[in-house]
Amino acid sequence: MMSKSVVLIEGDGIGPEVADATRRVLDACQLGLEWVPARAGVAALDAGDSSVLPEATLDAIREHGIALKGPCTTPIGSGFTSVNVGLRKSLDLYGAVRPVRSMPGVTTRYDNVDLVIVRENTEGLYAGIEHTVTEGVVTSLKVATRSACRRIADFAFDYAEKRGRNKVSAFHKANIMKLSDGLFLEEAKKVAEEYPSIEYEEVIIDAGCMRMVKDPSQFDVVLCENLYGDIMSDLCAGLVGGLGVTPGANHGLVGSIFEAVHGSAPDIAGQDKANPLALLMSGVMLLRHLGDTRGYTDCAQAADRVRNAYNACLEAGECTGDLGGSLTTTGFADAVIARLG
Ligand code: NAI
Repeated sequence: MMSKSVVLIEGDGIGPEVADATRRVLDACQLGLEWVPARAGVAALDAGDSSVLPEATLDAIREHGIALKGPCTTPIGSGFTSVNVGLRKSLDLYGAVRPVRSMPGVTTRYDNVDLVIVRENTEGLYAGIEHTVTEGVVTSLKVATRSACRRIADFAFDYAEKRGRNKVSAFHKANIMKLSDGLFLEEAKKVAEEYPSIEYEEVIIDAGCMRMVKDPSQFDVVLCENLYGDIMSDLCAGLVGGLGVTPGANHGLVGSIFEAVHGSAPDIAGQDKANPLALLMSGVMLLRHLGDTRGYTDCAQAADRVRNAYNACLEAGECTGDLGGSLTTTGFADAVIARLG
């Protein structure tokens, strides 16, 4: 059995604050998790690394196979590529999972959202192939390969089957991008045939957005290529209370990184007011993953304990300002710890 070591990348901006809150809650479960610190983002540059994504960080994730990551700032216009895109590509973390659920005590226009975005993480327009054709004319190439389309479709249907979900909706724009989105749909359709018990539908993304905001309960697993998945993740976060309640995971063959959908929020960094819940929810996904893939039943049980504790906090109105409460980042972590059964 592998150990319970987890690489911890605190990140930038609010990263260290929400990472500390999350680590304290998970440590309070007394699971014997061993945190292996690693650097990325501006924090890495500040510490003297020459890259926002040091090789030592990639090696640590390869070695331990699992990481909890706070958000990282990508310096704009300085020649550095995005830490997140870099991590996902370097480690081939091709499958992003972003559950979006209505939360107890968090009032929005909807009370019945329970869906999961599955996003292809490695290609599409994020392949980063851009050219200046001539002054004032640039191109950005959207890449789709049969193998990547196939593996993300396999991933989405496998996830749906394992989690007892009934439907996969592939969002696309194949009416315009006939080749790239066409290939994406072609593979999704083939995989769908192998899962006759799971309903499959193809949804043109613009109409899909309209359907999503009218009635999100009609969606279950939403399968997207890279850019669509990025946009749908934030759109869906808005349905359930914002970025403070949207966790995520990036999976590949070498390992998995658990991180919130939100960024480093420089506007509120260092003020102890960021909501740590999205990273804590990502931490719950991490515990469940340790249970599922490494046989740690104590981690799986702790995942339920933490979830019940933060749900109880939310029901009692114990939350941070973005959700209408008055707790600090630290105070929310303390409140969750106090409610751990
Ligand atoms: P952002 O998600 O950091 O912030 C958007 C808005 O949401 C801000 O008003 C912020 O205060 C608020 N917000 C975000 N997380 C919050 C939380 N936990 N609690 C309370 N309020 C929260 O997005 P933005 O401003 O576009 O990006 C800032 C930086 O983060 C950029 O450098 C960007 O590259 C980076 N980023 C990193 C990500 C990652 O590491 N996974 C993901 C997205 C952005």
